[in-house]
Amino acid sequence: MICRQNLPVEKCKAHFRCKILLLLFVSMIRYEAKKKLRKEQEKMKRKAVREKKIAESQAALSKMSEEELVAWREARAMKVAERQKEREERRNRLQAAIKSGQRIVIDLEFENLMTDNELKSISQQLAYCYGANTRAPVPAHLILSGVKGKMLERLNCQMTGIGNWLVTLTQESYIDYFAKLAKGQLVYLTADSPYEIEELETDKIYIVGGLVDRNRHKGVCFDKAQSQGIATARLPIGEYMKLASSQVMCTNHVVEILIRWLELRDWEGAFKAVIPTRKRKVDGEEDRV
Ligand SMILES: C[S@@+](CC[C@H](N)C(=O)[O-])C[C@H]1O[C@@H](n2cnc3c(N)ncnc32)[C@H](O)[C@@H]1O
Repeated sequence: MICRQNLPVEKCKAHFRCKILLLLFVSMIRYEAKKKLRKEQEKMKRKAVREKKIAESQAALSKMSEEELVAWREARAMKVAERQKEREERRNRLQAAIKSGQRIVIDLEFENLMTDNELKSISQQLAYCYGANTRAPVPAHLILSGVKGKMLERLNCQMTGIGNWLVTLTQESYIDYFAKLAKGQLVYLTADSPYEIEELETDKIYIVGGLVDRNRHKGVCFDKAQSQGIATARLPIGEYMKLASSQVMCTNHVVEILIRWLELRDWEGAFKAVIPTRKRKVDGEEDRV
C-alpha cells in the first residue's frame, strides 16, 4: 500500500505516528475498561459481604429467646450511644482546633497545573486529610485556601459533604487570607527547601501544596514561596528513614505526618505511622529512579 507521499505505508513517518497514537489510544481504553470492571467487581463483592452479614444476623436473631433478644437490643443501643458520644467528642475537638489548633494550610491554587484525573486525585487526598484530622486525638485547624474555578467544581461534585466539614475553606489565597499577620509566620513546606523543620511552632502557619503532579512541575512550591518572600522548610525524613526513591511525598501523607506529629511530638513515630512501607528502602536495595 502507498501513502499520499508516495511511500510504502510501513516507511511513512505519518503512518508510523498514527499507529503509535492508535496503539496508545487502544491501551488507554483497555486500561479504563479494566479499571471500571475492577471497581464494579469490588462493589459487587462489598454488596455480597453486606448481604451475607445481614442474613447471618437475621438467622441468629430468629434463633434467640425473648430474653436474649432483650439483651441483644440493649447491647446494640449501648453501642449506638457510644458511637454517638465518640462523634460528639470528635466534633468538639475539631471545633476547638478551629479556634486555637495548629494551623495547616492546603494550598489549592494549582488547578491549572493538573489534569482532570489529577484534580480528582487531589480531591480524594483532601478527604483523606480530613478523615485523618477527624480521627486525630490532637487535630489541626485545616485551612483549604484558593478553592475556586475547576478545583471548586471538582470538590463540589466529588465531595458532596464538604459543606459540613469542620475546616476553613476559602477562595482567597493564603497570602491574602493571612494578610494581617506577619509574613514571618508563614512557612511553605517543600521537599526542595534547604532548611529542615525541627518542630511545629504554634504561632506558625504551615502550608502544604495541594498538588498531584508526579513531580512533573519540579520546584513549583519552592519557587512560589521564594517569590512571595515566605520561609520554606522540608520534613526531616532523611534523618529517620531511608526512602527507596525521592523524598517528595503526596499532599495527604504530608498533612497526615503533621497531624501525627501533633499527637506524638516525634518525627520518627510520625513518619513510621504514615509513610507506606513500599516507599521505604530495604537495606541493601538499590535506589529507585
Ligand atoms: C506531591 S507534592 C508536590 C510536588 C511539587 N512538584 C512541588 O514543587 O513541591 C505535594 C506537596 O507536599 C509537600 N511535600 C512533599 N514532600 C515534602 C517534603 N519532603 N518536605 C516538605 N514538604 C513536602 C509540599 O508542600 C508539596 O507541595
